[in-house]
Amino acid sequence: MKGIILAAGAGTRLYPASQPISKILLPVYDKPMIYYPLSTLMLAGIKDILIITNESDYNNFKKLLGNGSQFGIKIQYKIQYVQRGIADAFLIAEDFIAGEDVALILGDNIFHGFGFSTFLKQVMENKKGATVFGYRVKDPERFGIVKFDKNMKALSLEEKPKKPKSNYAVVGLYFYDKNVCEYAKKLKPSKRGELEITDLNKIYLHKRQLNVEILGRGFTWLDTGTQDSMLEAANFVRAIQANKGQQISCLEEIALYKGFITPEKLEAKLKNFKAKSAYYDYVFDLIAAEKENKK
Ligand code: G1P
Repeated sequence: MKGIILAAGAGTRLYPASQPISKILLPVYDKPMIYYPLSTLMLAGIKDILIITNESDYNNFKKLLGNGSQFGIKIQYKIQYVQRGIADAFLIAEDFIAGEDVALILGDNIFHGFGFSTFLKQVMENKKGATVFGYRVKDPERFGIVKFDKNMKALSLEEKPKKPKSNYAVVGLYFYDKNVCEYAKKLKPSKRGELEITDLNKIYLHKRQLNVEILGRGFTWLDTGTQDSMLEAANFVRAIQANKGQQISCLEEIALYKGFITPEKLEAKLKNFKAKSAYYDYVFDLIAAEKENKK
């Protein structure tokens, strides 16, 4: 399975903070925002990843994440020149997807919960159609919304409805089968001039091939589209990390834990690296512990 991170948005709701640099590179507490969605794809076991950026931040993303070898994965980059909506990702990425199944995650979506890796693996076993996730929110008019029947079967999808039919948002993580590029080509721009991801999901819904999984109480989903939600997310990450002494979305930790890279290889990659931050202290401690475990 391939993975795509859509990191091309202008982030105008965060201006002036995101005027000189993509919002997806701004920190959420102690690491750039893109670390969080990238960690989700890695937890799903996806190692072949395309990051879609805007034109002006293309080099900044590359400078931060390189070709992914530090995390034992392969990262490629493509530019979205015109903001044509989320589903445009499948037109930009058609060659990269090359007829495989694909996961798409939005660059400003943060997921945290027990057993996430196992849960995602189960979801990925569903080879037909699409899988999306419903999450209860207090402000449903801000999101794509799914309405269920009494058996929790999806009945309808609406993008940012003025009068939401439920409190379940469709979060920014989507799994699709090999038909996704063909379906994306059929989409017409919405009133706001975008190829809407909700319209793409509706195609799967109408074909009875949309599987909606609920992210229940044990999960936290944060979208960082506004100043307040950025601060909320930063406070959340800080609180959990301080409480447990464990990092959320430490990419090197996931790479080691998943066996994407050996501690020796990671150590070699960081040999001349002089960062003295809490994040890298944590990474170097992990490398030492992993090497000790192997003895
Ligand atoms: C987008 C999608 C919406 C989804 C949300 C999740 O909204 O259009 O369906 O619920 O991401 O983050 P936007 O990026 O416009 O806020």
